Amino acid sequence: MTLDSPAAPSTPADTPSPRRQITIRRPDDWHIHLRDGEILRKVLPLTAMQFARGIVMPNLSPPVTTVEAALAYRARILAALPAGADFVPLMTCYLTDTTTPEEIERGFSERAWIAAKLYPAGATTNAHHGVTDLNRLAPVLERMERIGMPLLTHGESTDPTVDIFDREARFMEESLVPLLARHQGLKIVAEHVTTAEALDVVRAHAPRMGATITPHHLMINRSAMFQGGLRPHHYCLPVAKREHHRLALRKAATGGETCFFLGTDTAPHPRRAKEAACGCAGIFHGAIALQCYAQVFAEEGALDRLEAFAAFNGARFHGLAPNEGSVTLAELPADPPQPLDLGEDEIVVFREGETLPWSILR
Ligand code: DOR
Ligand code: ZN
Repeated sequence: MTLDSPAAPSTPADTPSPRRQITIRRPDDWHIHLRDGEILRKVLPLTAMQFARGIVMPNLSPPVTTVEAALAYRARILAALPAGADFVPLMTCYLTDTTTPEEIERGFSERAWIAAKLYPAGATTNAHHGVTDLNRLAPVLERMERIGMPLLTHGESTDPTVDIFDREARFMEESLVPLLARHQGLKIVAEHVTTAEALDVVRAHAPRMGATITPHHLMINRSAMFQGGLRPHHYCLPVAKREHHRLALRKAATGGETCFFLGTDTAPHPRRAKEAACGCAGIFHGAIALQCYAQVFAEEGALDRLEAFAAFNGARFHGLAPNEGSVTLAELPADPPQPLDLGEDEIVVFREGETLPWSILR
């Protein structure tokens, strides 16, 4: 990693020279939704521009529950990659009430997938085939523990009587902490953590436990959903929480703790599906996720820790080598992100209308 304040001005007169720039190892995104079909073809190049590898969520419709489905989905992703892109999709298995230990192990040993995703049934987008009773999953989790296969959790209680802002903390307390005690060797990633409580559970169980932290949960709190009116493009699950949680997340991400790593949860939905009477959950990062992280780390005075968060910690957790190659980020203002054209519709990108203070230099 190199961190520079380059001498001005080596750039053309109309281009501001960067105040700070940083070169880090090529990063990975440990949590992405690539979808399928036309949306896959549109969003994949944007992820591949920023990241060398990505853990691909299996919540398609129907979900990716078998080795064959994972292999076929990976083939569709590879076919959708732009020529010359060397992005590696890392696949996951969607756990259901009927997942068998044999299928889980077969996919892991054949390298069809590297982890399994636990969606409590109904917790989020396309989660209705998810797990209704964690106790019934015990044989699958025991097998995963034995073969060293990580469990990725969408950690929210699905009890409709639990307030939506409390669902992550309740899941931790009622489901995840007991599960950690029952399966003491199981590797677990708490995905897209949003609360100080979740961070503490992760810290207490590291290094067999890790957590991904999204750009949006580092940048917005729950008031952003209601700023001057209803803001559907700031609605995701888990929903953003109070400001003190956001500050705790920023401290965790930028504080140098190796159990926290990059995972954007980039989740594209067409504008019409977001701006609806019952809009979909999901925030889409297009090509700006890495720039958002750089901004957060710069604001926290922790640019020297961005590389570990983005390129080392997640790889180490998953037993993978860091990538070769590097990417340079510079404190150069970039134009506001434009929606992604889908012909009949479009996908709004996080921070639409904002000038971004950081850019990727090639
Ligand atoms: O906001 C979210 N969107 N959270 C999830 O857990 C799923 C995701 C999606 O697939 O749209
Ligand atoms: Zn997700």
